[in-house]
Amino acid sequence: MTTSEESTAPTSLPWWAETVGYQIYIRSFADSDGNGVGDLQGITDHLGYLELLGVQTVWITPFYPSPMADAGYDVADPRGVDPSFGTLADFDALVTQAHERGIRVLVDIVPNHSSQEHPWFVEALASPLGSAARDRYLFRDGRGENGELPPNNWQAIFGGPAWTRVADGQWYLHIFAPEQPDLNWENDEVRADLGTTLRFWLDRHVDGFRIDVAHGMAKPAGLPDAPAGSPAAGPVHHEGGIIPVAEGASDPRFDNDGVHDIHRFIRQVADEYTDRATMGEVWVADPKRFADYLRPDELHQAFTFGLIEVPFEATKIQEIITQELTTHASVNSHPAWTLSNHDLLRPVTRYGGGEVGTARARAMLLVEMALPGAFYLYNGEELGLPSVDIPDEALQDPTWLRSGGVERGRDSSRLPMPWEGDEPPFGFSTSNATWLPSPAEYGPLRAELQFEDAASTLSLVRQAIEIRGSHEAFTGDEIDWYVPPAGCLAFRRLGGLICALNTTDEPVALPPGEVLLSSQPMDGDLLPANSAVWMI
Ligand code: GLC
Repeated sequence: MTTSEESTAPTSLPWWAETVGYQIYIRSFADSDGNGVGDLQGITDHLGYLELLGVQTVWITPFYPSPMADAGYDVADPRGVDPSFGTLADFDALVTQAHERGIRVLVDIVPNHSSQEHPWFVEALASPLGSAARDRYLFRDGRGENGELPPNNWQAIFGGPAWTRVADGQWYLHIFAPEQPDLNWENDEVRADLGTTLRFWLDRHVDGFRIDVAHGMAKPAGLPDAPAGSPAAGPVHHEGGIIPVAEGASDPRFDNDGVHDIHRFIRQVADEYTDRATMGEVWVADPKRFADYLRPDELHQAFTFGLIEVPFEATKIQEIITQELTTHASVNSHPAWTLSNHDLLRPVTRYGGGEVGTARARAMLLVEMALPGAFYLYNGEELGLPSVDIPDEALQDPTWLRSGGVERGRDSSRLPMPWEGDEPPFGFSTSNATWLPSPAEYGPLRAELQFEDAASTLSLVRQAIEIRGSHEAFTGDEIDWYVPPAGCLAFRRLGGLICALNTTDEPVALPPGEVLLSSQPMDGDLLPANSAVWMI
């Protein structure tokens, strides 16, 4: 921070509060060894790219030993590296080199469930009913005359019942795929083991954690049925992503009160070390209940999903920003804005695709980066990548299988990054047999071309990050709203930055001021359709 910024900011904020974050979906980022799957060395090789972009914190998705039933979110050993991603030595080298470039590293922790190949689950299956080994998971007898019906009516997020029956007749709970048995968070060993995992990575100098399904883990006493008609009880069509949203009391699978004690435990472990942070994936619809996760002794931060949930409409965007800022202020926390991740349709596609989708996604990037707090890009978002549908036979997401071919799942947003060259896989791998196809559509969007093009999305993002980090106008926790023309919004930060967004199809007039950056070339003094601008 410069001295002038310090003079407008009353206290200096912790590093995570305003960081430029970047999610690396490791399987699709960069493959260094030609097995068709991205890896740790591939990330290390691209640290220069991240530094040039201005990234300050990376979140790396799971790279632990896994049978990959859910692309690594089914963890068989939370303290190792899957050979397809490299070795622990590769991980240590990545952290060291990232730190040398001033980039912090968050790793992804998956406490709600393990893989069915975790030694604990293997042991549980081989152990008798009622044994200590079974108590680490949620085994129950079934209902019906012979226990042939699942213990309750809960549905799994990826489709089908949330219970699977084992050879001796008992059932085990899995909120996600059957290959992801839920752990029993009433069991002391489960908690102690998470502590061991957290310390293992903290000792290897990670700067913190992204906590997967951080509103899961705790289950209600007696595992009661979900009310009929609730998302937990029936198949739901997921529009634009597969997300485990807790819709209040009607969804007993998530956001149970006992979860907060688990977060206090996680926080205590993180606080044994200096300057580490926890970032939760908390899909909780009720703002008050969401804020509870951000109390001073729980998560440092949680992804602020509001902008993802609203369409490209000024009024709705303004409403959600106001709501999110109020929610965070209520617990003195800082938002971590995001427009995208590996579970959702990419913004370009969500906002309509093609030129309009791209224009809107660029505009929303400027809105997001203008707001107080941190923000997280998802790899490829800086290139303006769309989601691209792939043939049935190439689909890998468990959702495709579990929904009986009804839901195509999330693969369209997880395709390999296009780096360079004229042919797929565009420098992602030396192999053409990449784990998901590398679409030809990504060729013109590859990073090497966008670096050369001042009008590219990559250049826009680079410039925006630089201005945001160096200009003193980007200060202050609160924003003031202007009363703009219909279909537009405009706000001002305490430090003087004005951000205006035009969601209409026509250019609009702007208040007087100097333009710092616009998501499309300005139309004289007018802000073009589907665009945003930063002014002072
Ligand atoms: C989170 C992850 C998602 C994964 C699920 C189960 O929502 O982001 O990719 O499938 O948890 O671990």
